[in-house]
Amino acid sequence: MSESAPIVRIAGLRLDRGGRTVLRDIDLAVPRGQVVAVLGPSGSGKSTLLAALTGELEPAAGTVEVLGRPVPRNMRALLELRKGIGVLLQGNGLLTDLTAAENVALPLRTHTRLPKPVIDRLVRMKLHAVGLRAAADAFPRELSGGMARRVALARALALDPPLMIYDEPLTGLDPIASGVVMELVRRLNDSLGLTSIVVTHHVHETLPVADHAIVIANGGIVFSGTPDALQASTDPLVRQFLDGQPDGPIPFDAAPRGATPSPMEAA
Ligand SMILES: Nc1ncnc2c1ncn2[C@@H]1O[C@H](COP(=O)(O)OP(=O)(O)OP(=O)(O)O)[C@@H](O)[C@H]1O
Ligand SMILES: [Mg+2]
Repeated sequence: MSESAPIVRIAGLRLDRGGRTVLRDIDLAVPRGQVVAVLGPSGSGKSTLLAALTGELEPAAGTVEVLGRPVPRNMRALLELRKGIGVLLQGNGLLTDLTAAENVALPLRTHTRLPKPVIDRLVRMKLHAVGLRAAADAFPRELSGGMARRVALARALALDPPLMIYDEPLTGLDPIASGVVMELVRRLNDSLGLTSIVVTHHVHETLPVADHAIVIANGGIVFSGTPDALQASTDPLVRQFLDGQPDGPIPFDAAPRGATPSPMEAA
């Protein structure tokens, strides 16, 4: 793959969930090196889009290419692809009976045959990268929410994935911790030569560190451009979302008519 090829390329994508279409006609190319913010109201399909990137959800139509090849359907090939995608989910997913260092070591122990001293060294480097070397031996319950999020970030980085995907990395964090995490997302992206896709509704914390923003609403991409262009947009749909107005082109219940909310939505 040439250096300039997009790291994610989506064309004519339609994604269905629970028998109905969540997203349609999605076209998106994410160039290497960028931090891309994916914004949109709750239930608009942001996490669904991420699920298509990791191969968790099969497209109903269209194509998804990640790291230069179509997302495979075969489980073995899919697991291989996923080693190249670092995923940070909303809930951190840290194992509570393991220390910070042990949590970060987990993907290395599972997916590599590196000797323990090498893994220990890599773990120290990852914790250092998120500013938490001193917290290596702490258990998750001994960490603040922001620190725990950074440990989860270090763990997502453990295998040096070229692509990072963050789903709501700021949930539950105060503005200071949010700023720290978003700064870190940007800094790691640049220093490690990553590409980052950040799903969030924290518009004001995210846009300053993003190169590109897309807004998803009403089943499709309603905006794609620079953060500055987004802020300047006069599109009523975009304005309603950015300004947090309850009334406008985005219905209060963002799900299309006839849909029943899924109990899985929060998962
Ligand atoms: N596993 C599932 N089965 C059926 N429907 C689902 C499933 N997951 C999500 N949905 C539905 O798909 C739509 C999009 O959900 P999604 O989780 O992608 O939204 P989101 O933009 O990530 O929202 P939020 O900001 O609240 O996380 C919702 O209407 C949701 O009810
Ligand atoms: Mg979501």
